[in-house]
Amino acid sequence: MLSYQHTYHAGNHADVLKHIILGDVVSGMFNKEAPLFMLDAFASRGIYNLNSDEALKNREFDTGVGKLWPRRNQKSPEGVARWFKLIASGNQDGGFSRFPGSTALLHEMCREFDRLSACDLHPQEFDGLRRSFQANRRFSLLKRDAFEALKALLPPKEKRGLIFLDPSYEVKDEYRQIAKAVVDAHRRFATGVYVIWYPILPAGRHHELFNDLKRSGIRKILRVELDCADTFPDMQMSGSGMLIVNPPWHAQHAIKNSLNWVSEKLTDGNGLTQLNWLVPE
Ligand SMILES: C[S@@+](CC[C@H](N)C(=O)[O-])C[C@H]1O[C@@H](n2cnc3c(N)ncnc32)[C@H](O)[C@@H]1O
Repeated sequence: MLSYQHTYHAGNHADVLKHIILGDVVSGMFNKEAPLFMLDAFASRGIYNLNSDEALKNREFDTGVGKLWPRRNQKSPEGVARWFKLIASGNQDGGFSRFPGSTALLHEMCREFDRLSACDLHPQEFDGLRRSFQANRRFSLLKRDAFEALKALLPPKEKRGLIFLDPSYEVKDEYRQIAKAVVDAHRRFATGVYVIWYPILPAGRHHELFNDLKRSGIRKILRVELDCADTFPDMQMSGSGMLIVNPPWHAQHAIKNSLNWVSEKLTDGNGLTQLNWLVPE
């Protein structure tokens, strides 16, 4: 286990959707001034080098950020513009090779009274986190198991929280493991906003995640999905999605705009989008 390295995939079509929608969700939670706790449970290294051998091996970023970057100065939805701005701020040369991951996004969005914990168990990924960020009282870097961290850190003292679950799905039963972790965490912290990323692969195992969550009794689960259909025939993963438990009401309009824009621009209109309730209120 733990052989997965996200740098091989960084910036691909799934990362684009993931980071833009995650930003929309966080922004939707900022309508209140109250402090927020954010947990990036599967953080990876925070910032990826797209000029590295790993990233250049399959150039997956060509299916995502590489395709969208030329449009950075065009009019785009708020969530997309925020993401372009974040990338631009880390690349003085006007490129995108220093590519921000989920921790970089959450770190940038954190207000001075919020707290962020980022965790990764992989020694190399964790070292990357430590190299890229300076931990402090409000920002902790944890080399620990995400499932244990969920148990230990929830419910947060702030009583408001965003939990981002972005596992590598290296083992088949991880879909069910994630569902179980969300159900357990929801029992202790029912008002938390849980954002769960999933890939669309030929085996279709994401339906196991869906079925377990549907059976759990948890209400208010939004499904945001982009299947790029056959836009990227060299990739096994045709698309990806996110399930959002308790999506902030304020985020839903932004999510819709981001999803439609990303779908249109990444797949030239061939993508199949889903924005609906897996489980309604
Ligand atoms: C898909 S990557 C995360 C990408 C990152 N969230 C982003 O968007 O930039 C998944 C990460 O989870 C880590 N991981 C896998 N199993 C873990 C576990 N049980 N606890 C903590 N980290 C784990 C892997 O080392 C890998 O870096």
